[in-house]
Amino acid sequence: MTRIHIPPIKCQGIKSKLVPWIRDIVQWNDRGRWIEPFVGSGVVGFNIAPHHALFCDSNPHIIAFYAALNTGELTPGQVKTYLVSEGKKLAHYGKAYYYEVRERFNTTYQPLDFLVLNRSCFNGVIRFNSQGKFNVPFGHKVERFSKAYITKIVNQVEVVYKQAQLSQWTFLCQDFRQTLADIHPDDVVYCDPPYAGRHVDYYNGWTESDESALCTLLKQCAGKFLLSTWHHNQYRGNPYITTLWTEFHMFTREHFYHVGAKETNRNPVIEAIITNFIPRQLQATPSEMKYEQLLLLEREMEYAVNVR
Ligand SMILES: C[S@@+](CC[C@H](N)C(=O)[O-])C[C@H]1O[C@@H](n2cnc3c(N)ncnc32)[C@H](O)[C@@H]1O
Repeated sequence: MTRIHIPPIKCQGIKSKLVPWIRDIVQWNDRGRWIEPFVGSGVVGFNIAPHHALFCDSNPHIIAFYAALNTGELTPGQVKTYLVSEGKKLAHYGKAYYYEVRERFNTTYQPLDFLVLNRSCFNGVIRFNSQGKFNVPFGHKVERFSKAYITKIVNQVEVVYKQAQLSQWTFLCQDFRQTLADIHPDDVVYCDPPYAGRHVDYYNGWTESDESALCTLLKQCAGKFLLSTWHHNQYRGNPYITTLWTEFHMFTREHFYHVGAKETNRNPVIEAIITNFIPRQLQATPSEMKYEQLLLLEREMEYAVNVR
């Protein structure tokens, strides 16, 4: 059974449930670098567990948190102490304390406050207003940081921390164009950009020109790449599938998103993975059978910590 480690940071579009599928397509051999221009929560790369990796994102707060764990500047012990003390204050002062932390974060941008907000805000989303200020409301639970919940978060932190200490990982806050400017033949690039029109905020705009720039850069990619995108939902299809990505290989399957309170946000989306290579297991398979075979290859999985 495959174990999926859930990372300490939550974000919209988190791909926890797609990790086994991505891993089966990649067949990672640890020869080159694992590169993620849109790392988000990090769930994909952290579960691939590469020795060399470049993890990037345009959101400086995600990068600052993971970079601090990577350098050892922030340890699981410090995270625990902070969550215990902030949890007590939240339980004592209630909702008002959440807003105090939010205000403090929007002035000092401390990685530990980012974690506190991310794990106590409404629905665990990351959203910044047009001034770049975190603006997600309180998640309603003043007893949020129970002993069990703190242990769960600290365990999640510890997995990333230990892996980072044993590996050669780099975290950079930069635009995907910069990340994709220097890809080597042994590298594998996993791209998971925002889906146009969904979850737009200060760090998450996505336009047709972004998608087209991404396509141009991935066409020139010297290594292998995988792109996560959506194929269709019950209302419409992704127009870029037939206009931009036609020359690559594509695999699809259903994914159920759990972020967002509204029922409409919980509708299934047919996810697509677009690649510039044929997965090794399918190389000798007639093309019309490839998709079904890939589904059969997916292993039973177990989530190390609850998937929210
Ligand atoms: C769908 S999320 C990635 C989710 C991630 N794969 C996971 O499973 O957690 C997209 C990420 O792209 C980042 N992003 C948005 N625009 C970007 C850009 N122009 N360059 C780099 N990163 C960007 C966002 O901050 C966000 O973290």
